[in-house]
Amino acid sequence: MKIIKVTDQQAGGKAGFEIFKEALANGATTFGLATGSTPVTTYAEIVASDLDFSKSTSINLDEYVGLAADHDQSYHYFMNKHLFSKKPFAQTFLPDGLAPDLDTFVKQYHEIIEKHPIDLQILGIGQNGHIGFNEPGTSFEANTHVVDLTDSTIEANSRFFASRDEVPAQAISMGIAEILKSKQIIVEAFGKNKAAAVKKMIEGPITEDVPASVLQKHDNVIVIVDEDAASLL
Ligand code: GLP
Repeated sequence: MKIIKVTDQQAGGKAGFEIFKEALANGATTFGLATGSTPVTTYAEIVASDLDFSKSTSINLDEYVGLAADHDQSYHYFMNKHLFSKKPFAQTFLPDGLAPDLDTFVKQYHEIIEKHPIDLQILGIGQNGHIGFNEPGTSFEANTHVVDLTDSTIEANSRFFASRDEVPAQAISMGIAEILKSKQIIVEAFGKNKAAAVKKMIEGPITEDVPASVLQKHDNVIVIVDEDAASLL
């Protein structure tokens, strides 16, 4: 894993942007995208740039089950707000939180990922080491699947909802096996509350208890961390 240490999230956004820029210049066509507070500075840099994604494809990592695309906490809404409305892509794929048959849907999403191999995947990391919504204990062999969110993730994400009760209990997430097929992966982490997860991801044993630790097996991962997130390394 290559580690880039930056002073703060603003600088991290610039570092992430440079990797997108280089990937695009090198012919990347498909970008795996993440939501959460972490990648917003990278998306802001992309929006402010003259990079052209109008021939690119994006595939998002995850979505809450039960939230419509226009719900202001859905990941569809997030992506439209932070990126797609200002920097159009040729085609964008996100899991459908309202899919009537989730089992069928996750298989279809897997086929989409197979059809559009991801050149560059951006990831954040949960405080418990999750990537996408692959919670601790998720098989490294998993493809897109429906997830029961852990209490700690519901708690962490409740800051975006009016109350804890409104946080969906399930999500659809790209699986670890699919994430690992991406040619290149960026993981961004900012803030003290990510320091323990970052340490386990980089220095800890590779274990399904810490989903991000699987990234040690991938040969093209760049970790972008600020001083706080790197404080235990
Ligand atoms: C969420 C998302 C992840 C994200 C993580 C961290 O639950 N499903 O994709 O990386 O938690 O979120 P944040 O960037 O807001 O800290």
